[in-house]
Order: sequence, then C-alpha cells, then structure tokens
Amino acid sequence: MKNQGKNASPLFKGMSQSREATLFYGESVDLFAQIVKKNFVPGTYTLADLGGNKGEFLSKVTEKLPEYSFKSYVVDVNLGIEIGLNAEKIDGNILENKFEDKSIDIVFLRYALSWNPFDKQKDVLKEVSRICKGVTIIQHQGYNDVQISEQDKVFSKIFDGRIPEIARNDYFPTNLSQVEKWMSELGLRFSRVQNRKVENISNLFIEKYRLNEKDAQLIKDILSGCDYLMQTCWVLDFRN
Ligand SMILES: C[S@@+](CC[C@H](N)C(=O)[O-])C[C@H]1O[C@@H](n2cnc3c(N)ncnc32)[C@H](O)[C@@H]1O
Repeated sequence: MKNQGKNASPLFKGMSQSREATLFYGESVDLFAQIVKKNFVPGTYTLADLGGNKGEFLSKVTEKLPEYSFKSYVVDVNLGIEIGLNAEKIDGNILENKFEDKSIDIVFLRYALSWNPFDKQKDVLKEVSRICKGVTIIQHQGYNDVQISEQDKVFSKIFDGRIPEIARNDYFPTNLSQVEKWMSELGLRFSRVQNRKVENISNLFIEKYRLNEKDAQLIKDILSGCDYLMQTCWVLDFRN
C-alpha cells in the first residue's frame, strides 16, 4: 500500500480528533475486544491481524483483553512493527499462504478488504476461511448498496491525483451486498453486527492525510452531496 497518510498510525490506534475518525477507528477497539470476549473464554489463542499495518490496532485491542494471552501475527505489505507489541510481523501479501490450514483461532481484517482489487477480494475471504478455525472479525468501509455508482464517481475523483497526498489507484470500497454475496458463495457462516452510514467522511481523510486548507476544501467540494461511507462489521464463525 503506497499511501497511508501522515497521520495514519495514530488513527489506527484510535487517537483521533474528528468524530468521523473516532467512529471509524476509535470505536472498533471496543467492538473487536467485545466480540473476542463474547466468543472465547480467557485462555491462550492464536490471533492473526491480516492487513494490520504495523499492528497499531492489534496493540490497542489486546490491551483491552488482559485476561487473554495471544500468539499474535500481523501480516502486511507495509513493513515495520509497533514498538512494544508482542506479535510476529509477517511481511507480504495476505494471499501468499502465510499460515497453515485452520491454524488460527481469531482473525482480524479491519479495513483491509477494500485495498484489494475487486477481483481479489473474494480470494481474501477465501484465504480467511482457509486459515481460521475460530472466529474472524471483518470491518469494512464500503459504498451504499443504493448509491454505488454515484459514490464510485466521486470517490474515484479524490484518488485520481488532483489531491497529491491521497493519490492512489488501489482503493475498491465494495458494498455490503457484494461482500455478503461472496461470503455466501464461499459457504461462510457470518453475522452482520454493524452497518451504519458515517457522514462527513471527508473529515476523516483530512485528518488522516493532514490535508492543507486548499485540499481540505477540494475534497469537501468533490464529495459534496455524497460525503459518506458505509461502515460494516461481520463476525464469521468457523467452529463446528
Ligand atoms: C486502512 S489500513 C488498516 C490497517 C489496520 N488493519 C487497521 O485497521 O488499523 C489497510 C492495511 O491493509 C493492508 N493490506 C490490504 N490488503 C492487503 C494484502 N492483500 N496483503 C497485505 N496487506 C494488505 C495495507 O497494506 C494496509 O496497511
């Protein structure tokens, strides 16, 4: 992933200023910790954070679970590991067979799916189902089922280079129905535990990429009338 944003690491840890970044990043720490607690009694588990960047998010979630012990892995194409995090960093692509079949109790996949080309996202879900023997938590930023083409039109404009800080060609925020269709086709057992519209999402980009005033105004103008993303979370259960 080429372009993470100057302020990405603090945001991934939930250290945000804007309401939108707090909804998107900060609140997931408790959400993921609660899902782990609900599904696993305190004990020792293998945990893989796929597309976990440097493990910033993982470090915050595991802090909330002191009664658990994890053998943790962070897989990402981005190099580096959060200082003080007790996890093994595995550099490379999620799709490169990083783990044995059914070797991981808990898989996290937060906001990683949409950074994979459209034709690879189902493969990522398939990989999750190959390695996970327990529970996978997927949080996703995507388009609204009823406004896909409108959203795609404006969001492609914010990444096409007119705002150099954000320029990228690898962002594919698929919509809920598409992701659920893939999961159904793969025969995955999932429940949707969150689906909400986060308005004024331009504020998240402004904070994450520390945009100057001119570009902040530009992104607001571009997204005007369509300034939101959907935030969805699924829990996939691979236990018998
Ligand atoms: C928006 S960041 C989120 C980081 C972290 N999951 C979090 O929520 O704090 C998405 C991350 O997923 C990683 N990623 C996406 N697809 C990947 C893939 N196929 N293989 C490895 N890393 C991937 C990117 O490199 C990036 O670090």
